[in-house]
Amino acid sequence: MDEQKYSISRWEEPDRIYKDLSNLTSNPIWEINEDYHNKVLDHFKYKCQKSYDIYMEAKNYIPGGVQHNLAFNYPFPIAIEKAEGAYMYDVDGNRYIDFLQAGGPTVLGSNFKPVREEVIKLLESCGPVTGLLHEAELLLAKEINKHMPAVEMFRMLGSGTEAVMASLRIARIATKNDRIIKIGGAYHGWSDQMVYGLKIPGSRQFLESHGIPSKCYSLTDEVRPNDIKMLDKMLWFNKMRGGTAAVILEPLGPESGTRPISKSYNESVRALCNKYGALMIFDEVVTGFRVGLSGAQGYFDIIPDLTIFGKVVAGGYPAAGGVGGKKEYAGLMAAGVATGKHKAYVGGTLAANPLSSYAGYLAIKEIERTNACVKAGQAGERLTEGLKALITKYGLPYVVYCQGSIVHLECTGAMSFDYSSFNIAKSLIGILKNKKMVYQRKDAMERMGAAYMSQGIVTLAGSRLYTSLADTDEVIDDALARFETVFSNVVKTDKGIKTK
Ligand SMILES: Cc1ncc(COP(=O)(O)O)c(C=O)c1O
Repeated sequence: MDEQKYSISRWEEPDRIYKDLSNLTSNPIWEINEDYHNKVLDHFKYKCQKSYDIYMEAKNYIPGGVQHNLAFNYPFPIAIEKAEGAYMYDVDGNRYIDFLQAGGPTVLGSNFKPVREEVIKLLESCGPVTGLLHEAELLLAKEINKHMPAVEMFRMLGSGTEAVMASLRIARIATKNDRIIKIGGAYHGWSDQMVYGLKIPGSRQFLESHGIPSKCYSLTDEVRPNDIKMLDKMLWFNKMRGGTAAVILEPLGPESGTRPISKSYNESVRALCNKYGALMIFDEVVTGFRVGLSGAQGYFDIIPDLTIFGKVVAGGYPAAGGVGGKKEYAGLMAAGVATGKHKAYVGGTLAANPLSSYAGYLAIKEIERTNACVKAGQAGERLTEGLKALITKYGLPYVVYCQGSIVHLECTGAMSFDYSSFNIAKSLIGILKNKKMVYQRKDAMERMGAAYMSQGIVTLAGSRLYTSLADTDEVIDDALARFETVFSNVVKTDKGIKTK
């Protein structure tokens, strides 16, 4: 039998998932009962006092009291003091099983010692930054190329957002076309052109693009996830208006697979990009070195024109981002100050600093040595199976599925709506009609997230869980017992129903 190389041991076609999600959102919300909710609030009040004090003071100095989007947890954010392996510890001494994993980068588990020790040696010799070339940059680029041959060249940048910005410039130079197509609901960072159709497909500029002049996203289009016909039509339509420079996509489906795709989808997108002369940009910020060492492109056997990196590429250390691909495209990025003509300008004071480059290189080596992607995937699948059993036991309408080490637990379906349409008015009407229900579902999702937290489990916004090498069977089984306590306190409410 072939040795397992990827975190995903079996691919679940999305039909069952979409059917179950549709059932979830057409029924009232099921969430923790009032008594239990009060107990959760008491937990935060009495056991998280120091976090609360830090947060209250931070509100005077930091907008909203938190710097990081993922840290905005109901009823207030928890301040973390220590992170190690599968666990985080807050300033009040509470321990949490960490399924946030910093939003994905720590596939080896938090603060992985073998990487940390080598990083410290580097810091002691040259510090985190010099502004000049360091051999670690070469080591990292070669290591990526070893696992992903389609990434012939790699340029490290400060974040996934920056890497996406660079890739769009390259695509426009390479194709001489301007339009960019993204898949509705996908997250490709927060640059002006990409804050379009965020989270909810078909939401276009209506939800998140405050402060962005409409001209900035006038060349961005979105299509319905997993809908190859709509993409074909959009590419055809764009041909009439100047052509498409690139189709950018998350290989597991928008929002790290929150909107799953069929296994053949990426291949069909590749074929359409070839047909219409658009570049295919694989955003592997989440999937690179998580789905497998060769990323989602290895798993799906796809050769993208450009690949976006982030998160694991710096081993969980800061300044994680980069773009790579075929030489003919990656070579279109300007290098140094004496730039050639007609190249994409990229930069960043801290981009490709020795610390990030070396940490990324070490982490990839350690992922290979420990078989971390596969082990994290096994943990994710064990968690998923356990959650499914609990959902059945308690008769809940919840939906759980995973792509290996990325587990989706949908208790309210707040993220499951879709207003994709060629017709802008139709999208807007859909959003307005469902607004109240979506907010009720979002609030309930936050209360569920708080309940997990009070049981010592940190999730990403109450609906996504990343697993890592550190998640042994014992960790997962302990987590399942804690989920059971929450699920045993869930009741059907009369909220979350569509208004006619
Ligand atoms: C798929 C994807 N692309 C791009 C980004 C942006 O990366 P960064 O947060 O490093 O800017 C993210 C971040 O979560 C992401 O998940």
